[in-house]
Order: sequence, then C-alpha cells, then structure tokens
Amino acid sequence: MLTSRIGNKQTVPVNLALLRPEEVRAVHRAAQLAANGAGTVLPNPVVGCVLLSPGGWTVGEGFHERAGGPHAEVVALAAAGQWAKGATAVVTLEPCNHTGRTPPCSTALTAAGVSRVVVAVRDPWLPAAGGMDHLRAAGVVVLDLTDRTDTEAQAAVAAAEDVNRVWLTATRMQRPFVSWKVGMTIDGRVAAADGTSQWITSAESRADVHVLRAQVDTMMVGIGTVLADDPQLTVRDESGRPAGTQPLRVVIDSNRRTPPDARVLDRAAETWVATTQELGSAQDGRVDLPAVLDRLYQLGRRHVLLEGGPRLAAAFLDAGLIDEALIYLAPTLLGAGRHALEGGLVATLADAHHAALREVTPFGPDIRLRYSISR
Ligand SMILES: NC(=O)c1ccc[n+]([C@@H]2O[C@H](COP(=O)([O-])OP(=O)(O)OC[C@H]3O[C@@H](n4cnc5c(N)ncnc54)[C@H](OP(=O)(O)O)[C@@H]3O)[C@@H](O)[C@H]2O)c1
Repeated sequence: MLTSRIGNKQTVPVNLALLRPEEVRAVHRAAQLAANGAGTVLPNPVVGCVLLSPGGWTVGEGFHERAGGPHAEVVALAAAGQWAKGATAVVTLEPCNHTGRTPPCSTALTAAGVSRVVVAVRDPWLPAAGGMDHLRAAGVVVLDLTDRTDTEAQAAVAAAEDVNRVWLTATRMQRPFVSWKVGMTIDGRVAAADGTSQWITSAESRADVHVLRAQVDTMMVGIGTVLADDPQLTVRDESGRPAGTQPLRVVIDSNRRTPPDARVLDRAAETWVATTQELGSAQDGRVDLPAVLDRLYQLGRRHVLLEGGPRLAAAFLDAGLIDEALIYLAPTLLGAGRHALEGGLVATLADAHHAALREVTPFGPDIRLRYSISR
C-alpha cells in the first residue's frame, strides 16, 4: 500500500491492487481491438492495448495487425506520444519479453514511462513470457487479472481469452485449434437421403464461410466428403474466384482414395493428403488424428477449419479434438439423410460432450451458432 499526498501535508492510502472501472472497460475495448488481427496475425496471437491517462481517459490504442509487424503496445505508445508517460497500459495478453522479429514490448513500455500495466491473460509461450516480472523489476505497478475472483475482472479475462482462443489453445495444447464448421437443417441433417447437400444453407451463410476460411491457416475434410461433393476448399470472392492467401487443404484419407482429378488437388492452393502410410494408423486402422494435428503444429499451423463430413467430425469429437463448433442452421427439415455427426462413441447421456453458446449471428434466413466445446 502506497500513500499519495494531498496539498502539503495530508496523505491518503492508495490501493494499487484496486482494479478501476475504466480499466475493466479498457480490457473489453482492447479485446475488441485485438479481434481486428484475426486471420492476419497467425501464427502470432491477436493482442489489443489501450493506454489510459491517470485521469482514466484513453490516450492511445493499438492492436497487433500482422505477424512480423509492430505489437499492440508499440502501436498504442506511438498513438499516445508524450501522453504515454505516467499512463496505464491495459493489455489483453502479457507484454512480450523477448526479441523476435520486433524488440520486447516490456522495455518499450518502461522506456515510454508507463507507470501501471493491467494484464488480462498471462503469456503461456515460454520464450516470450516474463514481461510482468520485467515491468515489476523496473518499478511499474502490474495488475495480473488471471487469478482474481471478482465478477468484473473475470468477465474481462473471459473476453481477452475468447478473442485469443485460437492462439492460446494452440500454445497450451501444442496442437492447432480446431473449429468444426457445419451447415445443417434444423433437424440436424447435412445431406438428403439421395446424398444431395448443395445447398442446405443460404448464399449469405456460404459467403460467411469464405470469411471464416480466410481467417484460418488450414482447412480439412474426410475422403468421404471429397468423393461425395468434390469440394475445391478455397477462399473465394463474390465472383467465385480464389482470392487472397489460401489456407493449406488437408484430406484425411487412410488409403489414398482421393481421385487424381479431384478439385482439392488443383493448383489453387497447397494440399496434404494425410494417409496411414505416411502417418501410421490408429487402433481402428484409420488415420491417427492426433498425429495429423501434431504434424500440422510442427509445420507452424495453428487453426484448422474442419469442414466435415459426419464421420470425420464424430471421430474428432470423440478424440476430444474439437475446440469450437460453428453451426449454420438453415430453416429446413428433411426427416431423413445424413446426420451432422455419425459414428460417435457416446452411449449414455452422462457421457455427452458439453458446449457453451458464445454467439448467435443471423445470415440471411439462417443463423450461425458458435459454441465452445469442453472435453
Ligand atoms: N452440410 C455440411 O456442412 C457438410 C459438410 C461436409 C460433408 N457433408 C456431407 O457429408 C457426407 C460425407 O461424409 P462422410 O461421413 O461420408 O465422410 P467424411 O467424414 O468426409 O470422411 C470420412 C472418411 O474419412 C476417412 N478417415 C480416415 N481416418 C479417419 C478417422 N480417424 N476417423 C474418421 N474418418 C477417417 C475414412 O475413410 P478411409 O477409411 O477410407 O480413410 C472415413 O470413411 C456427404 O454427403 C457430404 O455432402 C456435409
């Protein structure tokens, strides 16, 4: 506990561990800023930073836009200029403490004269961790929100965790984050009895899928989907042409049944056909899914968009390898046809996988539900 002087003589205690309301708001704002880096920062984390004056006014904001580009703290410090001195930096992720493609943010903050730093999430990546220790050693007051039990702090931490879920999960689990995307009828069907599935969802939903694809570094399907639908698996613009950086395409195909003229093998993007011959097989004789994710992680891939089909998705779910579900729900009913998940091993309700609803977003006549999945 420090004291602050009022006038010439009187002193009052200042509780430096007190999280101020404007700092809580700033964490939420920093999480919003961080989201702007989704899709362009991989394999780096998304990070947002807000600089507050001692009076609680915002004097600078920034986010990490691109791997190799300036970090959020550096962008916010540049925006604040002289107002950075004595300011509080509110960050979604612990400032980095190492020299990578850019110098450490911990030293940039101390050099600018920042006096207080509020950190929502500790950096789990050991080479860059230690930013809070560096700041404290330099005399900066650091508030680590991770273990706080008050509701406001926990909500702020949850926002910072959620916006950076891809990188945080990949770093903590040492495997890519897996988003399972599916388009289904309201009775949970992904193809009709005759095998037709194009299109269950609206043009608006399908356009959003291309936004999603542009934010990941890897897309994946099973051989069943390749044989049934012959998808190209590319990011395409409104005219239907491949646009921008294309994620790696992965086909899970135990016995290399992918036809040589399959569209997924065209020259629009790179493709990896993962076979048992290359990776070894799991106990059931099929491709070892953890081995696939391990290989992808070693190759620097951090975010897989799993686009089906029902058998591969069920196998991922059973293996505890789905982190979130993005479900496009179309206002149609089939009453027959393929289910969204097939071949799963849950036999009794007590063993059900649990999901927490994060977002509901309308796309034309459809809605997109985003759930986080717990193991
Ligand atoms: N509406 C949608 O969003 C959507 C999306 C995608 C697909 N679909 C529909 O889904 C249908 C195709 O689904 P599907 O279930 O037949 O095929 P799938 O899930 O795409 O592929 C399943 C196949 O993957 C291979 N595989 C290799 N390793 C595996 C593992 N460890 N676990 C599970 N599978 C493994 C297996 O074949 P091998 O043993 O030969 O390797 C398996 O039969 C089509 O009707 C398609 O239209 C709908």
